[in-house]
Amino acid sequence: MVVIANRLPVRRVRRGNKNVWEPSPGGLVTAMRPILTESGGCWVGWAGMARSPGKSFDVDGMEVRDVPISAAEQENFYEGFCNATLWPLYHDAIREAEIHRHWWRSYVDVNRRFAEAAADALKPGDTCWIHDYQLHLVPQMLRELSPGVKIGFFLHIPFPAEELFARIPWRRELINGTLGADVVGMQTKLGVRNFVRCAQRFGDAEAKGQTFLIDGRPSRVGAFPISIDTAHFERTAKKRSVIERAEQIREKMHTVSGRQLLLGIDRLDYTKGIDYRLRAVQEVLRRGRFNADDFAVIQVAVPSRENVSDYISMRKRIEELVGNINGEYGEPGRFPIHYLRRNLAFEELIAYYGAADIMMVTPLRDGMNLVAKEYAAVRTANTGSLILSEFAGASQELKRAVLINPFDVDGIATAIEDTLTMSKDEAARRMKSLRSVVLKHDVYAWAKGFLEVLQS
Ligand code: F6P
Repeated sequence: MVVIANRLPVRRVRRGNKNVWEPSPGGLVTAMRPILTESGGCWVGWAGMARSPGKSFDVDGMEVRDVPISAAEQENFYEGFCNATLWPLYHDAIREAEIHRHWWRSYVDVNRRFAEAAADALKPGDTCWIHDYQLHLVPQMLRELSPGVKIGFFLHIPFPAEELFARIPWRRELINGTLGADVVGMQTKLGVRNFVRCAQRFGDAEAKGQTFLIDGRPSRVGAFPISIDTAHFERTAKKRSVIERAEQIREKMHTVSGRQLLLGIDRLDYTKGIDYRLRAVQEVLRRGRFNADDFAVIQVAVPSRENVSDYISMRKRIEELVGNINGEYGEPGRFPIHYLRRNLAFEELIAYYGAADIMMVTPLRDGMNLVAKEYAAVRTANTGSLILSEFAGASQELKRAVLINPFDVDGIATAIEDTLTMSKDEAARRMKSLRSVVLKHDVYAWAKGFLEVLQS
């Protein structure tokens, strides 16, 4: 079994007086690690840094193979074609997608390098699972390099509507490349519908419902909603140190006097709708039914893709909004918005989830959004409420969340007011239903489900 993803699931950390690699946290690696270790397989990806090792090495019993990416490729492939062409376009073009031929050329080159690195590790009869929009061309390239290998492809982000995808000059190559896989997985049924429609229109394969035939070989398309390691989240939430840290956060936020704590945790990305959400909070304060004594918001913004210009402008906009809201509605020692721009360690993240009365997950578009599922997993006593965007894939499963249109500032404001006054019983009923979803379907079930279809 070989996993191919743009990033390796490892990070460089300082231990004592030397730098070492350690596994980075994340659902995908948690689910795949036992499978890779058992099968003697490996993970092929980029270490996320210039001058990366460019070879294979072992990290806590898992073999990883680094695919080096040059500084120019980081600019053209990663920041360019992946994150300034495909990313905005796949998220309903909420930012204009820039289209440049030299970015595309770099995308082709890097995809080929990934396919070659994987082919090196594969022999006929093996299985290979390719992940995400950075690697659309790898399935077909790998099929040519390694015949006899079972190939799966999973897209973690939304697949866009036909009229948006149609804009890409290399739409045919992207579809044919992806259909090199035996199974193509999407997060939602809508993703499947969009992909099938685009494959019928732009690809070369013969379509039979959700299956495509390429020289007689079938490629099947289906929805496989990803999930989290629910038991791990629950276990961590019950740790003494985590509970104490959650209590400490609540104390610092003055919740003893009945003040409720609202939380947002997102990568600092324009798809996450942080700006609309903050404007909704501003609207709640403007309406005057609640003030900064009644509630406070902690917004954690995790730095991301900091060289891409739309990310730079989004950060400025959010920070200005935070300043405006606090300037207008704050009092010494009582600010409505607490803005933290940083990465959180795993246990710290769980403590924040544990501390929050209301979790706000309001992306403008999101393939799934695991924060929503993580919050439900952590709320073992069925307390707390989730406000969730109807445009996050997670809303297809977490139907008892308070669902909102993330572009509707007034609507989000009303949802916040309603949630602040929701009865404990109603909140508990809803949370129980949300939790049943993540308890029934975790990341292990997701990986098993996909791989079973791939093997069948
Ligand atoms: O959601 C898609 C995704 O590529 C994730 O796999 C990843 O965690 C996130 O976006 C951040 O991506 P990047 O690798 O660009 O930091």
